[in-house]
Amino acid sequence: MKIPSSQITPERMYLRRRELMLGIAGLAAGAAMPAAAGPAAVMPVRLIERLAYSRNARYSTTETATSFADATSYNNFYEFGTGKGDPAEQAHRLRPRPWSVAVDGECEAPGRLTLEDLLKPHPLEERIYRLRCVEAWSMVIPWIGFPLGELLRRFQPTSRAKYVEFTTLLDPRQMPGQRYPVLDWPYVEGLRIDEAMHPLALIAVGLYGETLPNQNGAPLRLVVPWKYGFKSCKSIVRIHFTERQPLTSWARSAPREYGFYANVNPAVDHPRWSQKRERRIGSGSLLSRQPTLPFNGYATEVAALYRGMDLARFF
Ligand code: MTE
Repeated sequence: MKIPSSQITPERMYLRRRELMLGIAGLAAGAAMPAAAGPAAVMPVRLIERLAYSRNARYSTTETATSFADATSYNNFYEFGTGKGDPAEQAHRLRPRPWSVAVDGECEAPGRLTLEDLLKPHPLEERIYRLRCVEAWSMVIPWIGFPLGELLRRFQPTSRAKYVEFTTLLDPRQMPGQRYPVLDWPYVEGLRIDEAMHPLALIAVGLYGETLPNQNGAPLRLVVPWKYGFKSCKSIVRIHFTERQPLTSWARSAPREYGFYANVNPAVDHPRWSQKRERRIGSGSLLSRQPTLPFNGYATEVAALYRGMDLARFF
């Protein structure tokens, strides 16, 4: 997808400190999940910035977007607790600026880049993607970001770069959930290099026109819309090109339940529940479910990546 240059605002990320926004996330968490959220007294203060971007219509669904309140209060980010309301309540501890990302391994031009340098060459796009969690719920979110492949190419991966590994920040002071051995920290995810280079794979730096709230993975995260949400590694500090398939956090913790590929697949059940249907957060009743689509509805774009593979074996 090529965006006409006329549509691209040169000043991508204008740092207008718009406002201090009080506790939308905390309030919504309280309303949706009284048990998990606890008293509404914890009101994170977020410093948000508007982003300049152009809409990528080709890669955007026309389905109704999940509300901002739901998308920022019903989260998985185990570094801040395992409850869905914990990230909105706890993630104010994360300091997403200054930030840098180390890029290393099988590439000609490794280096450590500040967030600003990482973003500089990339015009931002808005893409409304479905995100299907392995726990059989889904959301539709207007992400803002740029193709992961464009970032990776800058580091000139070698022919030995068969996979890309992503690592989240490790800092139990900022991420109190890391004091508990829920997962083997830091959180690690991975993609095959051709998956990572696919134009749908996105580095997101914002949603709903604003920089990412901490609970959604500030300051930058992955969004891989045809895979279960756990592939979408948050608050990334390292990108590593490797010849070997990375051992990802979920595959390490429960290899029979979570595979490396994690493509959304209604035909392959999780060992403990069906993947045939999903609950769209914020729509319908708590019991209403809609069918889950192969590759989360992105089969036309990505099915060719897996031609000839037994997707029940490589789940
Ligand atoms: N990244 C990190 N570092 N830690 C996590 O616990 N959870 C994953 C993924 N990325 C997770 C993570 C899971 S299970 C999902 S479903 C998505 O983030 C949720 O993203 P969201 O909360 O922004 O919707």
